[in-house]
Amino acid sequence: MHSTPAHTDLALKNKTRPCQVAVLISGNGSNLQAIIDYSSIGGYQLCAVISNRADAFGLQRATRAGIATRLLDHKAFTSREAFDAQLMQEIDAFRPDLVVLAGFMRILSSGFVQHYAGRLLNIHPSLLPDYKGINTHQRVLDAGEPQHGVSVHFVTPELDGGPVIRQAVINVTADDTRDSLAQRVAIEEHKIYPEVIEWFASGRLTMDKNGVLLDQQHLPSCGIRTR
Ligand code: GAR
Repeated sequence: MHSTPAHTDLALKNKTRPCQVAVLISGNGSNLQAIIDYSSIGGYQLCAVISNRADAFGLQRATRAGIATRLLDHKAFTSREAFDAQLMQEIDAFRPDLVVLAGFMRILSSGFVQHYAGRLLNIHPSLLPDYKGINTHQRVLDAGEPQHGVSVHFVTPELDGGPVIRQAVINVTADDTRDSLAQRVAIEEHKIYPEVIEWFASGRLTMDKNGVLLDQQHLPSCGIRTR
């Protein structure tokens, strides 16, 4: 049987409906807001916002924008696998083309990640592969790094280890604090994440075993980097 590549499938689907995006959050949702604000020109639609925390302000942002929300409290589950299995059901009920992690502060099991392989994105506040994990701004300051930034990447089972699609770099100055870095990184996050989603939605962005392809060309390991 003849099978078409994933990006061609999406391009065909685009003729009937825009790319459907489910966003997972745990908190403030400023990236979610940027993604909502860009959706009308970005050629995608948010079909659901799902949070693992009831107090996530992003849930209010989604409701205000008329987007369906779901709350799935991880503390109600006895194992990561059980939570992830239920999360998959909640997500798949919305039939998204793309799942976007936007400040979703949960480690995902490899079964979950494999289920969404090639259509699961994350944003991480560092220049990956440097500073995986948490507290990136403070660790960058403590190490005296001259530069910092943000990465958008496809998610693979290795934590913060999937192939990088795009990075934005900021310079670290002598009077920077954790908060000032967080603020400047957030400004860059809000620019690059919606645009990467637009690339996916228009069928330009795919992943294969060798990394990320944009317009069928493999990207370097830092993705498209802006400074
Ligand atoms: C963002 O800075 C994002 O990069 C980070 O959480 C913040 C969420 O902010 N994500 C991670 O640290 C994932 N490892 P937001 O809720 O205002 O979008």
